[in-house]
Amino acid sequence: MSRIAYVNGAYVPHNQACIHIEDRGYQFSDGVYEVWAVRQGKMLDSEGHFRRLKRSLGELRIAMPMSVGALDVVLREIMRKNRVRNGLIYLQITRGVAPRNHAFPKDTFPSIVITAKSTNPAKADQTAKNGVAVITVPDERWARCDIKTVSLLPNILAKQAAHEKGAFEAWMVDEKGQITEGSSSNAWIITREGVLTTRNLSSDILGGITRAHVLTLAAERQLKVEERSFSLEEAQNAQEAFMTSATTLVTPITHIDGVAVGQGKPGPLASALRKDYLQTAAT
Ligand code: PDD
Repeated sequence: MSRIAYVNGAYVPHNQACIHIEDRGYQFSDGVYEVWAVRQGKMLDSEGHFRRLKRSLGELRIAMPMSVGALDVVLREIMRKNRVRNGLIYLQITRGVAPRNHAFPKDTFPSIVITAKSTNPAKADQTAKNGVAVITVPDERWARCDIKTVSLLPNILAKQAAHEKGAFEAWMVDEKGQITEGSSSNAWIITREGVLTTRNLSSDILGGITRAHVLTLAAERQLKVEERSFSLEEAQNAQEAFMTSATTLVTPITHIDGVAVGQGKPGPLASALRKDYLQTAAT
């Protein structure tokens, strides 16, 4: 079956889908994106991702090219056309096509691309069962990490560094020695005292939609929660560590920079939160 992409109003074969060479996303990274997980035919946390999309576009003063209602119809259609029951939907909106000039062009219309791909849920669940290793790298990003922009160079360099060291993810460390977040995920620990801890929202991190959902699950479980920064040392000495994102959902971390967290096995709370997440995130 051939894959289908949505490009500026048309459903086109994936291998023929294209965007103009003067698209500002291509020339300046002048655009934003969103990623939705799909499990058993349902998008996870769909409303949260729409809300963040609108916010990211607003921060960059790019217009929403269509209403959320219309976008929702297209996302479902792209899922259906690509027969994705388990997988990911990717959406990218840029400021549009214009002769190259740094300042915003007048009278351009945003470009929109939506794709979907299937992933193997059993494989992802097995990865979570085994747990993963992370390394740390300096956080070299700009001052507006709260915007989900396609400008991801420091993030891809961080992820590449992780893969070259046989790790799954890189946690980024700010100049005060505190963990900000992963290259494509939010970072969490459960401290020695049993407190579920993740960095507070600010322009230093992306406000993860999975993060927000896990915080509501933690409240329901009446867990002790602190939204604050934590150091590498505190993370390595924690009872548990895990990451959250649309692509990894809730995935336990067993090692940080080669140091075992707890017993060096997926922790019980992280594993329970993953299960809760899968049971409650479908929309
Ligand atoms: N990344 N932090 C960063 C830097 C991210 O890129 C992501 C998601 C997250 C988690 O956000 P959410 O829970 O809303 O997915 C945190 C996506 C999945 C990606 O780039 O593929």
